[in-house]
Amino acid sequence: MKHVVKPWAVALCALLVAMLSGPLQTTVRAEAPAQQKATLMNADCGKCHPTQAGQIEENGKAHKDAIGCQDCHTGHRPASKNNIPKCSNCHTDKPHFQLPNCLGCHSNPHTPKIITFGKQVTEPCLTCHTEQIKQLKTFPSKHSKLFCSFCHDVHGKIPQCTQCHKAHSSEMTAADCKKCHKAHQPLNVTYADNTPNKDCGACHKKAHDMLSASSAKHKTLACAYCHKTKHRTLPKCQDCHGSPHPAGIMAKFPKCGECHNIAHDLNNWPAKAEAAPAKPAAKPAPKKK
Ligand code: HEC
Ligand code: HEC
Ligand code: HEC
Ligand code: HEC
Ligand code: HEC
Ligand code: HEC
Ligand code: HEC
Ligand code: HEC
Ligand code: HEC
Ligand code: HEC
Ligand code: HEC
Ligand code: HEC
Repeated sequence: MKHVVKPWAVALCALLVAMLSGPLQTTVRAEAPAQQKATLMNADCGKCHPTQAGQIEENGKAHKDAIGCQDCHTGHRPASKNNIPKCSNCHTDKPHFQLPNCLGCHSNPHTPKIITFGKQVTEPCLTCHTEQIKQLKTFPSKHSKLFCSFCHDVHGKIPQCTQCHKAHSSEMTAADCKKCHKAHQPLNVTYADNTPNKDCGACHKKAHDMLSASSAKHKTLACAYCHKTKHRTLPKCQDCHGSPHPAGIMAKFPKCGECHNIAHDLNNWPAKAEAAPAKPAAKPAPKKK
């Protein structure tokens, strides 16, 4: 904030300061009765500067509790022409304190914790938060190209994904996004084994509908039970079933699918065997799809 110092104000100030320094001054410390020339005390400042004193009183935080007006404002007009302190008088030794334009974010030194910043801030955040930028760089996505403050426009505010994105299906809520995505690595999709099939089905309708319609036991399994943890994982039948048949059969028919069809729609022989009481075929013909 720039102050145009009006001559009348300077005069007024000089007058008032002179008055305060005069014999009628009442705020002279009781324990210093011998003091001839009264000095301005912190308690005096608010008489003429109620706005700043009020701000400090309400939101001064450490600038109220740890220091007083005069720790920052040494001297006063007219004797002292410039009593505005630099932040670096007191704040040094941290990367954060090397930033330019402290008042750009801490816009009022009398309310230091009320912080505002523009839409295009990343570097200053990194003086305190380092974990997020690591993730954004290790897992490049379109989020890596955004400024931190594009999403966190107020310090400490956590946005909802659905503020900017549509859910994959109408049943999915904002709380569900986190089950598969992390904000600072959104393409590194991971999920728990019990993720509901309908959540995968939002994009994989064919697989979902096929598995739901199947009558084989795979139907009871979660997509995420087979496609474990990380998106696009493809399991092998043997991961779960080992080698269920004699090596001789497998030598002739190396692919499980030659007899069993596909994981989402296994051939269902037991059901057929019950329907037809004859012995199960020694070499069942794969169901043609
Ligand atoms: C008797 C009234 C009075 C008291 C008491 C008083 N001030 Fe001031 N102060 C003024 C006036 C008048 C100005 C000039 C305002 C202007 O030029 O806009 C001023 C200006 C200031 C400025 C702006 C300085 C600048 O260079 O622009 C600061 C900072 C300030 N005072 C701090 C204090 C502090 C800290 C105290 C308590 C130690 C205090 N004042 C006590 C009247 C007072
Ligand atoms: C942490 C240091 C600090 C403390 C403590 C502090 N001030 Fe300030 N004050 C500043 C700074 C820095 C500015 C200049 C702000 C700017 O340039 O926008 C300022 C500006 C002012 C001004 C000029 C008008 C304005 O708001 O810009 C007045 C008057 C003032 N302070 C009064 C006070 C009073 C009264 C107190 C105690 C109740 C106080 N200040 C405590 C740092 C401080
Ligand atoms: C006269 C010394 C002094 C000056 C000048 C000063 N500060 Fe401080 N400030 C302190 C002290 C002391 C603390 C509390 C201890 C700490 O955090 O280092 C503090 C704390 C703070 C805090 C944390 C507040 C809290 O309650 O957690 C912020 C933010 C801050 N200062 C910003 C600034 C900014 C911005 C400036 C310049 C406009 C500035 N300070 C100028 C002494 C000062
Ligand atoms: C881009 C915005 C931004 C800029 C520029 C900025 N700060 Fe901060 N500052 C913050 C944020 C955000 C916090 C964290 C506040 C919290 O803890 O709630 C903070 C916290 C602080 C703190 C208290 C925490 C600590 O580490 O001690 C101090 C003191 C501080 N800033 C001083 C400064 C000083 C001095 C400058 C200029 C050299 C400055 N800031 C520049 C945004 C900024
Ligand atoms: C695309 C929007 C977006 C961008 C860009 C973004 N964030 Fe986040 N951030 C979020 C969301 C959403 C959360 C909440 C994550 C959660 O709840 O699991 C979050 C959480 C956080 C948290 C809380 C702790 C944590 O890691 O969950 C911090 C701190 C944070 N972000 C800092 C940053 C910083 C620093 C940057 C820039 C380097 C940044 N963010 C970039 C959206 C974003
Ligand atoms: C001076 C250090 C400092 C700076 C600079 C800073 N922060 Fe913070 N930030 C903090 C502290 C301290 C917290 C509180 C941590 C907590 O509650 O666990 C915090 C909290 C957050 C949170 C909420 C974390 C949560 O778990 O709820 C987000 C989001 C965040 N900061 C983002 C940012 C962004 C974006 C920037 C840059 C525009 C930034 N911060 C700049 C120190 C800072
Ligand atoms: C403030 C807005 C905002 C928020 C909040 C946000 N995003 Fe984004 N997200 C974007 C933008 C912008 C893009 C890039 C869109 C484009 O260019 O098509 C994007 C892209 C993405 C992408 C595609 C990335 C790529 O590289 O293809 C995914 C996945 C994504 N977001 C998931 C999320 C998730 C999950 C959350 C919550 C944790 C979230 N987003 C929160 C703005 C946001
Ligand atoms: C069941 C897991 C899952 C859930 C829950 C989920 N996503 Fe996704 N999302 C994915 C997968 C997988 C992709 C595709 C990633 C790829 O292309 O590799 C994706 C892609 C995206 C994309 C980029 C492509 C596109 O479709 O635009 C955005 C944006 C996105 N998700 C946002 C969200 C949001 C917002 C939510 C919460 C409402 C959410 N996601 C919930 C798994 C999920
Ligand atoms: C937002 C849409 C989306 C969601 C939700 C989603 N996927 Fe995908 N998935 C895709 C896309 C896009 C591909 C790539 C398709 C391609 O390459 O043809 C893919 C590929 C796959 C593949 C690999 C296919 C191959 O041939 O390599 C598997 C397996 C898979 N997804 C399983 C799942 C599972 C399990 C879930 C639920 C936890 C899920 N997906 C949720 C969009 C999604
Ligand atoms: C992630 C583990 C997993 C994978 C991978 C897997 N299965 Fe299964 N499979 C199971 C489980 C669990 C059952 C059900 C066992 C039960 O309920 O008795 C099962 C059942 C079966 C059955 C019996 C079906 C029925 O209805 O009686 C056959 C046949 C079978 N699997 C074949 C396969 C084939 C072929 C593949 C590869 C295309 C495969 N499985 C991949 C776990 C798996
Ligand atoms: C029993 C384990 C199992 C379950 C349950 C399962 N899959 Fe698969 N999935 C596989 C296997 C194994 C493959 C590789 C192709 C094959 O051999 O059938 C596969 C292939 C895929 C593919 C790539 C090929 C294609 O069909 O597009 C996608 C996408 C896929 N699965 C999604 C899903 C979704 C979505 C679900 C839940 C609705 C699901 N899977 C349930 C085991 C399973
Ligand atoms: C030549 C055809 C053929 C091939 C190739 C084949 N199977 Fe089978 N499999 C069968 C028949 C027939 C049955 C049902 C008869 C039975 O219960 O023994 C069966 C049963 C199973 C069962 C169910 C056993 C139970 O206890 O219910 C599993 C699991 C299975 N096969 C897994 C596999 C896997 C994994 C592969 C690939 C490594 C594979 N099969 C290859 C013909 C085949």
